[in-house]
Amino acid sequence: MILSAIVAVSENNVIGVGNGLPWRLSNDLKWFRQTTMGKPIIMGRKTFESLPRILPGRTNIIITRDPDYQIEGAIVTHSLEAAIEAAKNLENESNSSEVVIIGGAEIYRQSMSLLDRIYLTRVHADVAGDTYFPDLEMENWSKDFAERHEKSEKDAYDHSFTILNRVNKD
Ligand SMILES: NC(=O)c1ccc[n+]([C@@H]2O[C@H](COP(=O)([O-])OP(=O)(O)OC[C@H]3O[C@@H](n4cnc5c(N)ncnc54)[C@H](OP(=O)(O)O)[C@@H]3O)[C@@H](O)[C@H]2O)c1
Repeated sequence: MILSAIVAVSENNVIGVGNGLPWRLSNDLKWFRQTTMGKPIIMGRKTFESLPRILPGRTNIIITRDPDYQIEGAIVTHSLEAAIEAAKNLENESNSSEVVIIGGAEIYRQSMSLLDRIYLTRVHADVAGDTYFPDLEMENWSKDFAERHEKSEKDAYDHSFTILNRVNKD
């Protein structure tokens, strides 16, 4: 199984503000949809609550410390390890070979040393925010794909889609 994360990060490492995204980038939403579709996705409870609804076409796995938290149509787990285990079990049933962590900062931080791949959208701007992506040690990663897009009516900033594959475990 490949354990991946997907994230959009500004030049100053911001990923969120006020439990939402600090930008409108419709091209990145398309990339997110295309990259995660059909795969189990793992997220923290705050990121789940920032979404309008369960993301369709993907098994949504939510991590919370609240033993009473329940969401119809999603799997709720109480640790990162339990979330990954639940995704692996699904994987055995569905033959999907990749599980994608979709945030937020707390979950990225805890999973960083376990990741095989990061789908990293670099938002080419310094942006104000309150939630940050952890520092990446670039010597551990090989940038195997990069595609730059200009800002447009629907995309607030220039941005680049990149795919980083791990070359060294931390
Ligand atoms: N730019 C991007 O690509 C991107 C992607 C995703 C999210 N975001 C942004 O990131 C922000 C949210 O990130 P965040 O760091 O505040 O929250 P988060 O990581 O989404 O969720 C944190 C919550 O997850 C649960 N949790 C974390 N670690 C746990 C553990 N080891 N065991 C059990 N439960 C655990 C806790 O839930 P309980 O409090 O319920 O116990 C915790 O409060 C938002 O602004 C969102 O828009 C940005």
